[in-house]
Amino acid sequence: MDHWSSYWKSTQASAVTDSQWGDALAECLIELTDEVPQGGMALDLASGNGQLIRYLSHRNQQWVATDLADIDAIEGAVTLRQVPLQSQPFSDGQFSLVCSMFGLEYGPWPSSLNEAWRVLRRNGSLILIVHHELSVITKEAKRDLADIDSFLSSGVVNCVENMLKAMGKVDTDAKFVALENNLNARKLKQQLDSLLRCLKGQVSADFFDFQLQGIMLVLNEMMGDEVKLKLSRWQAGVGELKSYGERLKHQIASAKDEKTLNSGINGLLTCESEFTLREMRTKDGQMLAWAIKLQKY
Ligand SMILES: C[S@@+](CC[C@H](N)C(=O)[O-])C[C@H]1O[C@@H](n2cnc3c(N)ncnc32)[C@H](O)[C@@H]1O
Repeated sequence: MDHWSSYWKSTQASAVTDSQWGDALAECLIELTDEVPQGGMALDLASGNGQLIRYLSHRNQQWVATDLADIDAIEGAVTLRQVPLQSQPFSDGQFSLVCSMFGLEYGPWPSSLNEAWRVLRRNGSLILIVHHELSVITKEAKRDLADIDSFLSSGVVNCVENMLKAMGKVDTDAKFVALENNLNARKLKQQLDSLLRCLKGQVSADFFDFQLQGIMLVLNEMMGDEVKLKLSRWQAGVGELKSYGERLKHQIASAKDEKTLNSGINGLLTCESEFTLREMRTKDGQMLAWAIKLQKY
């Protein structure tokens, strides 16, 4: 979970919704909650930094947000950190509205769903946006993860680090020019060029360009900076990439197929409950997520 805590410490953005899909997700949530009576207490599960609460801020609700990560307080909500989805600190039937956007599916299934249902009161609604195993979001996550894996196993990370250390031996205020005069560093440069040629064939063009920019930045552009600083900048960048990879793995593993969703939901329902499950799509027809509404009567 450290990867989520460090993510929420380092960003104001939300996990998925700051992307091109934000408007569609907001519209879908507003539509799903449109006929849900207002007032009373509402719970956002695995809230992150509270994007769902901001989307539904027009509603008259007393919001409570919980997440397992070490999140900051969310404006307009009682915020509880380090709360696992499957073990919410609330009594039965405390909330008239329970929601989660790309959150509930991250916990154990179906116990996280059962817990969300337990804290929902009679006549209350459970609204979920859930990662779809075939969505464009999941596909992009798989592609990004494959790029990250290729990069981390390519040898480029160590080679750049060794080059930076070689620069340190030349001069503490080393410049790339100095590097060219150092035999060891020149060999490393040749090695880096060949590793990069190889990597280029394995990863997407955007990812390659992004990494190349980072490499050139630490090697060439941070001219005035000491090698030690360049090295720590490089290592921090690689650390962030690994952390992003951990989040992607978590996201891909949490994405659900219809059978898994239905089996969890069917376990909750009595003959009086009601549920709708639909596939949410982008304007150009791509799968974006599952949209779920459950009524507890
Ligand atoms: C993709 S983010 C979504 C956050 C937010 N709902 C949003 O849409 O911006 C997933 C969130 O689930 C939380 N999470 C993952 N596993 C969890 C668990 N077992 N219990 C509680 N929260 C969990 C993470 O800390 C993270 O904040």
